[in-house]
Amino acid sequence: MAETMKALVLEAHGDIDTLKVVNDYPKPSPGAGEVLIRVGASSFNYHDVFTVKGMPGIKVPMPVVIGLDMAGQVVALGEGVTEWQVGDRVLVNPLNKAKGLMGEMLDGGMAEYCRVSTSQLIAMPPDVSYADAASLPVAYGTAHRMLITHNTVKAGDKVLILGASGGVGTGCVMLAKQLGAEVIACAGSAEKMAALTALGADHVVNYRETDFSKWAIQQYGKPQRRTYEGGVDVVINFTGGDTWVPSLKCLKRGGTLLVCGATAGHDPKEDLRYIWSFELKVIGSNSFYDDDLSALMDMIQAGTLKPTIDKVLPLEEAAEGLRMIRDREVMGKIVVTP
Ligand SMILES: NC(=O)c1ccc[n+]([C@@H]2O[C@H](COP(=O)([O-])OP(=O)(O)OC[C@H]3O[C@@H](n4cnc5c(N)ncnc54)[C@H](OP(=O)(O)O)[C@@H]3O)[C@@H](O)[C@H]2O)c1
Repeated sequence: MAETMKALVLEAHGDIDTLKVVNDYPKPSPGAGEVLIRVGASSFNYHDVFTVKGMPGIKVPMPVVIGLDMAGQVVALGEGVTEWQVGDRVLVNPLNKAKGLMGEMLDGGMAEYCRVSTSQLIAMPPDVSYADAASLPVAYGTAHRMLITHNTVKAGDKVLILGASGGVGTGCVMLAKQLGAEVIACAGSAEKMAALTALGADHVVNYRETDFSKWAIQQYGKPQRRTYEGGVDVVINFTGGDTWVPSLKCLKRGGTLLVCGATAGHDPKEDLRYIWSFELKVIGSNSFYDDDLSALMDMIQAGTLKPTIDKVLPLEEAAEGLRMIRDREVMGKIVVTP
């Protein structure tokens, strides 16, 4: 009889309660150029909320094991695999270049085992835990590429971060601080503000109560067209929607608006006058590469980075973690240990 495993499976798009934990999902076996991983930890991202709901233009093959981020131990080798050994501890880059994203187009990390192409494996330094490693790819990897690989933030910059309490957001707060920036972290509750202060933010703004754009103008002065005075140097915005134009308004002349997502809407009202009058740079950033992930694991190994993990949940309770992300109740990451 074919071997089975426990997995969190999406069988049809809908609300989060359509996700099912099953005990009889077929245990994969590695094909040529692949390994089998026993998942040590996986983590959720807002992307999983979109996957469960269904996104226009993305046809998810069902059933699928969700979860993009995972780290674990190699337990079996497919044909022709010589560069990895049973027992190796690995972080997985979820993008399979031939087949698409794991946890969306291919089975992902919310299961006991996962089969992965060797081209997606990154060796883990010895002192990095599975939970910390699995927190990295989609959230911290994206933050690393946006701030460090693209060289967009420098020491002394005033960097205003929207959605600072989330996965990408906490990554941006920590990396911007490491780069020597003055960080203004915006979040939606007093609890999150306290946690962001503890994480190193220099200022916290509850943008449900306070207009963040007006706050920045009051704090740093009105941006000036001729003198480069006033406003902030960088706004990090992966929220979109109603936050887009206010982000343009509080940037100094020559300032940078960084964008890697649009949780609240991808087609916001635009106001081009701010972009040309203040010579603003709008810089997009997408995804991450192995180098971003290795650099982040090296920081953890060196003790200069500690991913913010809100909760570690067993697979049976994993869906509750995704609900918390959807309902904006999370500070940092939700990790699942299958
Ligand atoms: N392009 C890429 O490669 C890439 C990679 C990673 C993520 N992304 C995108 O970046 C965004 C953030 O991802 P994430 O995984 O960091 O999400 P997350 O952990 O859920 O954090 C998002 C934060 O945004 C805030 N927020 C503001 N408006 C919101 C809304 N309408 N709905 C939900 N949250 C809202 C929430 O904080 P408050 O409640 O405190 O406001 C929340 O903590 C997502 O849109 C995601 O798709 C893109």
